[in-house]
Amino acid sequence: MGKHPYIVWHKSFITKADRQDKNNHKSCVLWFTGLSGSGKSSLANALDKKLHSLGIQSYVLDGDNIRHGLNKGLGFSKEDRKENIRRIGEVSKLFVDSGTIVSTAFISPFREDRCSVRELFPEGEFIEIYVRCPLEICEGRDPKGLYKKARSGEIKDFTGISSPYEEPVNPELIIETNSKSLTKSVDIIVDYLQSNKII
Ligand code: PPS
Repeated sequence: MGKHPYIVWHKSFITKADRQDKNNHKSCVLWFTGLSGSGKSSLANALDKKLHSLGIQSYVLDGDNIRHGLNKGLGFSKEDRKENIRRIGEVSKLFVDSGTIVSTAFISPFREDRCSVRELFPEGEFIEIYVRCPLEICEGRDPKGLYKKARSGEIKDFTGISSPYEEPVNPELIIETNSKSLTKSVDIIVDYLQSNKII
């Protein structure tokens, strides 16, 4: 469905730049992508804690949590995942507009869907972070027992088993959670934010 002909955009008095000035840092989306069990949520939440301790306005949008509310009712078909990611892209844009550094932790397995989200943002505001971890390791961790269920066929369309994961081609950052500690991984992201003058 296209835009409604009688709906017009209202410009707000307070701009994104005003909000960033007040916060004393820029805003952006840190888009964590990777297999189930790769460590996206742990990393996004550890980073959030660090940013919060530095007085930075930050927030985490997490796949499992969002699927309890806003995206309740969406499944794991290609179309539903596309809609899941599209909505999160739009929500992230609102967060960035509010002056927040928002971290999103979604598998977001399809390159095209991630690219569409990137296109919502001006250069430098969408930072793709590939949380890379070999499938065997993720499967070995299997924190929720889902890989086991996917292997037995109890869960269909499971990423990495019966549904594809398309690796990012040119992500801003790659974090290898198999070989790096959580603290070191958080430091890499904080360094990136500092060297790009976001914080
Ligand atoms: S997606 O692909 O971006 O739309 O997925 P996302 O919203 O991040 O949700 C992933 C979490 O849902 C659980 N789960 C599944 N993952 C992959 N494939 C299938 N079929 C599936 N069914 C349920 C799983 O716990 C994912 O959580 P994480 O944190 O990634 O392990």
